[in-house]
Amino acid sequence: MEHTRRNKIVDVLKSKEFGKEVVVKGWVRTKRGNKSVIFISMNDGSAIHNIQVVADATGFDEDLLKQINTGACIAVTGTLVESVGQGQSVEVQAKQIEVYGIADPLVFPLQKKGHSLEFLREIAHLRPRTNTFGAVLRIRHAMAFAIHKYFNDQGFFYIHAPIITGSDAEGAGAMFRVTTLDDKNPPLLPDGHVDYAQDFFGKETKLTVSGQLEAELAAMALSLVYTFGPTFRAENSNTPRHLAEFWMIEPEMAFYDIGDNMDLAENFLKYLIQYALDNCIDDLEFLNKMYDNELINRLREVIGDKFERLTYTEAVDILVASGQQWEFPVSWGTDLQSEHERYLVEKHFGKPVILTGYPKEIKAFYMKQNEDGKTVRAMDVLFPKIGEIIGGSQREENLEALLRRIHEMNIPEKDVWWYLDTRRFGTVPHAGFGLGFERLILFVTGMSNIRDVIPFPRTPKNAEF
Ligand code: 4AD
Ligand code: MG
Repeated sequence: MEHTRRNKIVDVLKSKEFGKEVVVKGWVRTKRGNKSVIFISMNDGSAIHNIQVVADATGFDEDLLKQINTGACIAVTGTLVESVGQGQSVEVQAKQIEVYGIADPLVFPLQKKGHSLEFLREIAHLRPRTNTFGAVLRIRHAMAFAIHKYFNDQGFFYIHAPIITGSDAEGAGAMFRVTTLDDKNPPLLPDGHVDYAQDFFGKETKLTVSGQLEAELAAMALSLVYTFGPTFRAENSNTPRHLAEFWMIEPEMAFYDIGDNMDLAENFLKYLIQYALDNCIDDLEFLNKMYDNELINRLREVIGDKFERLTYTEAVDILVASGQQWEFPVSWGTDLQSEHERYLVEKHFGKPVILTGYPKEIKAFYMKQNEDGKTVRAMDVLFPKIGEIIGGSQREENLEALLRRIHEMNIPEKDVWWYLDTRRFGTVPHAGFGLGFERLILFVTGMSNIRDVIPFPRTPKNAEF
C-alpha cells in the first residue's frame, strides 16, 4: 500500500534507533522555548504519550514558528535522539517542519489548562484531542476488538440484528419511530390514527431496543451466536448511566441453562477486564492518576473475585434487614434501583453479584418461568460503581408456557408469530444476556458519566454533532 511516509508516535517512543530519520505528524499539545530553542510536544492519537520535538529557533522561518500553537497540525522530519530531559527517553531533533493546519489561539477552545468534562461535552467534536478522550477512545476500541476475539475464539458466530424493527416485544421502554410519512399531513384512518399501511414499510416501524429476539432465531440454527450493535431507548432517564442510543452485545446460546449463562457472563467480563489490563495499561494509568485512584485496583479485584450468586428474594431480605434509608423503598416485588444494587455490591458483598429468580412481573415475557409460578430465571450482573452491567435470562422454550405469558401481558400474537415458530419447530432450552457496551467502558475507564465514554452521546434534548 502506497502512502505518505509517517512514523507513528507510539512506535517512535519505543524506538532505540538513535540517529535515524523519522517523520512524525500530529497535533501540537504545547509549545515553549526561547529565542534559540523551541520545544514542541505533539500527539497523533497512537498513544497517550506525546513526543517532544526540539527545534533550533534560528534555523526556521519566524512566521512558520508563529503558526505552531496548541491545536495546530504539523509534520516534522528530524533525527531521533536520546532525550536528556525528564519524562521522556527519546525526542526528535527537527530538520524540517510543515504546518498542515493552524489553530488560532484566540479562538481554539482547547488550551493547555485542563477543561471540565462538562465543558468538553459541549465541544464533543474536539474532545478526542484531549488526553482523556484519547485514552477512552483507545480503550473503547480495544474492548470492541476483545469482544469479537473472545466470541470468535469460543466458536460463536456474529449475527447482525436489524436496526429497524416492526415489533416492540421486548418491552424495554419507549421506542423511536421510523417513518417517511409527511409529518405535516400524514394519511389518516377514519378513526383519526395515522395510517401506517401507507408508510415506507407498510406498517409502523421503530428503532430496535435489542437484537435478542433475532439472535434467538439464529441460535436455533448456529447454536452459539452474538450480536453487537446499536440499540435505542426513548425513556426520559437523564442519569449518568443511561443513553438513548447505546451499543449492546447479546450472546445467545442453545443448550445453555441459567447456570451456564452465568458462567459465561462471568468469564466474559473477566476476560475483557484482563484484556484491558494487558493491552491498555498506559491509558489506564493515566485515568487512574487523573480521575480514579482505585481504578486499576478495582479492575484487578474484580478479576480475582468469584462473583456472588444469590436470588432476588435473598437480596431483598438483605436490603430490608440493612436498616438503610432508601430513596426508593424496597420490598418483594419492586424493581431494584441502582442504590440497592450498589449497596449489595459495594457494601454487603464487596464484589460483583449475580442476582437470579426475579418476580416475573418486573421482567420480559420471554424469560423461563420457575416452578413456583412467581419467579423467572432472569439474571442481572451487578458491578461496583455501575449497578446493572448485564441483564439476561434462560428463555422460555415451552410453547404453551410462552403463549400463556404473552396473553397475560397482552402482546399481540401476530407481532411475534415468527418468534413463536421457533418453539413450534425444534425448540430447545437456551439462554443469553445483554452487556451494555458503554456500561462496560464506564467500569473499565473509571469515568463516572456515560456521556464521556461514547464519542457523541444521545440523551434527552441532546443530539448535537
Ligand atoms: O437489561 P436489558 O434491558 O436487557 C435486554 O435488552 C435483553 N434483551 C438482553 C438479553 O438478554 N439479550 O439491557 C441489557 C444491558 C443492561 O444490563 C445495561 O448494561 C445496558 O444494556 N443498558 C443500557 N446502557 C445504556 N443506556 C441505557 N439506556 C441502557 N439500557 C440498558
Ligand atoms: Mg435489565
